[in-house]
Amino acid sequence: MNPPTNGIAIAARELRKSYGDQTVLDGVDLTVPSGTVFALLGPNGAGKTTAVKILSTLVAPDPGSGQVVVGGHDLATDPQAARAAIGVTGQFSAVDGLITGTENMLLMADLHHLPKAEGRRTAARLLERFDLTEAAGRPASTYSGGMKRRLDIAMTLVGSPRVIFLDEPTTGLDPRSRHDMWQIVRELVADGVTVFLTTQYLEEADELADRIAVLNGGRIVAEGTAEELKRLVPGGHVRLRFTDPVGYRVAADALDGAAGDEEALTLQVPADGSQRRLREVLDRLDAAGVEAHELTVHTPDLDDVFFALTGGAPQAAPTRSNAATQPEEALT
Ligand SMILES: Nc1ncnc2c1ncn2[C@@H]1O[C@H](COP(=O)(O)OP(=O)(O)OP(=O)(O)O)[C@@H](O)[C@H]1O
Ligand SMILES: [Mg+2]
Repeated sequence: MNPPTNGIAIAARELRKSYGDQTVLDGVDLTVPSGTVFALLGPNGAGKTTAVKILSTLVAPDPGSGQVVVGGHDLATDPQAARAAIGVTGQFSAVDGLITGTENMLLMADLHHLPKAEGRRTAARLLERFDLTEAAGRPASTYSGGMKRRLDIAMTLVGSPRVIFLDEPTTGLDPRSRHDMWQIVRELVADGVTVFLTTQYLEEADELADRIAVLNGGRIVAEGTAEELKRLVPGGHVRLRFTDPVGYRVAADALDGAAGDEEALTLQVPADGSQRRLREVLDRLDAAGVEAHELTVHTPDLDDVFFALTGGAPQAAPTRSNAATQPEEALT
């Protein structure tokens, strides 16, 4: 009954969107295989929500700008069919606080034209699945942020969408609720659903996404698996801390290319995270007869990628390239 999609749930080509003279999306290409999780990352105002709205038919792209096919349906020619295949959980909750959880669910069932009995069954099943059965009779305004978010997603699932858009599904949730949400996403994907999510949390993209795209300045500035993106940036290092200035200085002499902080008695040595490089560092310390009090290995993470690609300053300890711009801190 669904048209052939060649395994592609979402395909967008040359997507453009401007508001007045502000170009928000400036030629965006995206391809999301069916049954996978795709994460769109980007700083505030990058255009993530705009992209979600266009891909989910809520906003039209600029006239004549590219093509979007969702669930095998071209949005320009067959938006109704595309709409039937997708569910959207917006950045801001669609939950009506004045009515109960069950009533919110039944409202969605009505919107999807489910017969009354089936609507009730679906609502009860989803409320149970999202651990909201107990709260189902209370006005949603009495729910916690995490409960509201779960209800929001449960409402999105009423229509059994095959493609789901989640715009910042875990913003504002505590770590426990965030992990619950991740589990929900994994279960959806296990059922064959395609999930397109936006997030500010690089860790979230790392955890969930098969592929990640970074949106900046209206364009996709990088795309790939988390591992592929991490390879784009240097920044791996071994960090050594010493208890006394003598040990610190001996080690600093023994390790070429290390960046040091004399006050903190720490050294940062560029390292790719391999065992071989680590052994080399330790061998040099041994040969110099000095032992570090503490040793940590830092491999570049998505934070490094994000900051490198979006032009912000990394919050993490300075990497080798930063050290090069701070000669006064470099090894003497
Ligand atoms: N309806 C609109 N009218 C005018 N400008 C808009 C409209 N919607 C979005 N914009 C502008 O487009 C840009 C991108 O907004 P968008 O909401 O897509 O960003 P975002 O990446 O989702 O940001 P955030 O991380 O803050 O949610 C912003 O500069 C915003 O002001
Ligand atoms: Mg947004």
